[in-house]
Amino acid sequence: PHVLVLHGPNLNLLGIREPEVYGRVTLTEINERLTELAKARGASVVCFQSNSESELVERVHKARDDHTGFIVINPAAFTHTSVALRDALSAVGIPFIEVHLSNIHAREPFRRVSYFSDLAVGVISGLGAKGYELALAYALDHLVHKA
Ligand code: DQA
Repeated sequence: PHVLVLHGPNLNLLGIREPEVYGRVTLTEINERLTELAKARGASVVCFQSNSESELVERVHKARDDHTGFIVINPAAFTHTSVALRDALSAVGIPFIEVHLSNIHAREPFRRVSYFSDLAVGVISGLGAKGYELALAYALDHLVHKA
């Protein structure tokens, strides 16, 4: 099984998008780092970004039969709006970790509410790109223990 890393809307602009909030690392750099980390542990990641809610929902459905053992997801703005993406994760029943680059509890009040956190194995928020690496490390441990 592999780890599926999902990135929500506007994360394709990482590096140039509000760098004081989200950092200067690009999405390509994050994905490359995750790919390396997984490889070093004899595992693999599949990364997918979309600005479209429907594409993310469809990708989660596909994870049911493509050997996805764990999901790491930054739902981005859909964190605060998407019952559909929440329901998709709930429907497939694959364990997931919710990641945010920024600390969503230290920003506008509307960002404090997540439709995902109560279903997540865990939530990492505010540690920048490092949060993805920590989430992946946990996910890989989980896969190993499962095998
Ligand atoms: C985000 C936080 C969200 O509130 C925001 O809409 C994003 C990115 C983060 O990674 O900090 O797009 O998920």
